[in-house]
Amino acid sequence: MSVHIAAKKGDIAKIVLQPGDPLRAKYIADNFLTDVKLVSKTRNVFYFTGLYKGKEVSVGASGMGIPSIGIYSYELFTEFDVDTIIRIGTCGGYSTDLKVYDLLNVEFAASESTYAKYSWEIEGDLISHQGNAFGLLNDTAKELDLNIKSTTIHTSDVFYRKNPGQVDIVKKYNCSAVEMEAFALFANAQYLGKNAATILTVSDIIPTGDEITADQRETALTPMIELALETAIK
Ligand code: ADE
Repeated sequence: MSVHIAAKKGDIAKIVLQPGDPLRAKYIADNFLTDVKLVSKTRNVFYFTGLYKGKEVSVGASGMGIPSIGIYSYELFTEFDVDTIIRIGTCGGYSTDLKVYDLLNVEFAASESTYAKYSWEIEGDLISHQGNAFGLLNDTAKELDLNIKSTTIHTSDVFYRKNPGQVDIVKKYNCSAVEMEAFALFANAQYLGKNAATILTVSDIIPTGDEITADQRETALTPMIELALETAIK
């Protein structure tokens, strides 16, 4: 048992899919896994372990933002011997080169956050995906005939801001989209020598205000969920 995850050692699989939202974790467990066990519900951040095509996979939420995923991913890696975390999230597109429903595989996360520096003395504002999960996701997407773009994204500490397109780091790395977690996940994995990937469905286009509605979200995220699960069993 860890501070924020009440599961027993051995109750969590070596590979964990991590959406931001606890209810999305439940949706995946209910609709895609069999033999499901609820292994933690501390703070209503549900973690489930079940089988996908006969192989054990866990799914549980990261919560929103760097501090939250920093805590959950660290405890999964260190207290439960998890080898690989695949974050499955949504992002906002910074330009009309992206469309809602597009699928991104995050090669690098850029951030103005001090998380990596003050946690692990990792200097710099750009961190790569870690290990082989990124490549496996691209290979699996090809097999499933899914379009996925490898890209550099911005992990932001703030959701609301005055000028969303005018952030220095976004210009510095030509970031295609913004979310709020990948940088911390990659930092933890780099420090601990673990595998971490982030795949994102574009849920909104910042300059036009185009967005996937709440009703559309469940079905919109299905290709990303299936890609993560098919990769997880490799
Ligand atoms: N996740 C989805 N859309 C986002 C946005 N516009 N900003 C930050 N995180 C997001």
